[in-house]
Amino acid sequence: MSVKDCVVLVTGAASGLGLADVRMLVAQGARVIMSDIDQERGAALAQELGADFLHQDVADEQRWGEIMNDIQARFGRLDGLVNNAGIAPIADIENTTTATWRTTMAIHLDATFFGCQAAIRLMKESGGGSIVNMSSTAALVGIPDYLAYSAAKGGIRSMTKAIAIHCRRQRYGIRCNSVHPGSINTPMVQEALRELMDVDLNAAEDPERLRRKLGVGEPDDVANMVTFLLSDQSKHINGAEMVVDNGDTVV
Ligand SMILES: NC(=O)c1ccc[n+]([C@@H]2O[C@H](COP(=O)([O-])OP(=O)(O)OC[C@H]3O[C@@H](n4cnc5c(N)ncnc54)[C@H](O)[C@@H]3O)[C@@H](O)[C@H]2O)c1
Repeated sequence: MSVKDCVVLVTGAASGLGLADVRMLVAQGARVIMSDIDQERGAALAQELGADFLHQDVADEQRWGEIMNDIQARFGRLDGLVNNAGIAPIADIENTTTATWRTTMAIHLDATFFGCQAAIRLMKESGGGSIVNMSSTAALVGIPDYLAYSAAKGGIRSMTKAIAIHCRRQRYGIRCNSVHPGSINTPMVQEALRELMDVDLNAAEDPERLRRKLGVGEPDDVANMVTFLLSDQSKHINGAEMVVDNGDTVV
């Protein structure tokens, strides 16, 4: 897979899946811009990994414009965007407040819309690119304890397809795909396991064994897919939903 010298922006890059993406992309020679709402952690990690860092709340539309201007000034182009930042509030249909609903929609759905729109403006100038939108298996099956999250991830799934077809019709050379992980071992899932199952993965005697027993994947399982979608090896894959769940949604 070649992402060498590609200029890639990864949002929500200071933790979990975003951080795994950054590590893999940097190792393969990409020029990575990390963004996150967590300025301190993001800046420290970027310095450690040899990436750039930009502070960003993905729900802030104006900041998307500033970030793209900054990337254009520094690199002259954008080849890849990973819309990865996210939150996962635990609440079913009877317990989801309007505030939780709106925040979840803002951070997932609004942000993915803003990010795709901003990236397309820059990518079409430089001859194309690849956008990867982080969805979830929640978009495919609906998870009762994650009502707003399931709805937002479902929206990301169909938005991705509409964007892919638009860019193809316009012959921009921009691909847009969604990735649908099952449970992956990140702080987000560790918290869910504690809340919903009273399981502490990190405190287990043999965390690896417990992880496998619970069917929880590793961040690199997703980073491999993201890197593939950003590379030219996936050049004929567009508007697709790439499931990374070891068959959870099939059985
Ligand atoms: N871990 C899983 O099992 C799993 C499964 C399916 C989908 N996902 C999706 O993958 C993405 C990453 O999840 P993760 O497990 O790495 O979570 P995580 O909590 O480890 O990391 C999320 C990152 O997003 C950042 N963030 C949160 N709100 C933000 C905002 N408004 N603006 C910018 N950054 C913000 C956080 O600071 C954090 O660094 C999310 O979109 C999540 O929904 C995760």
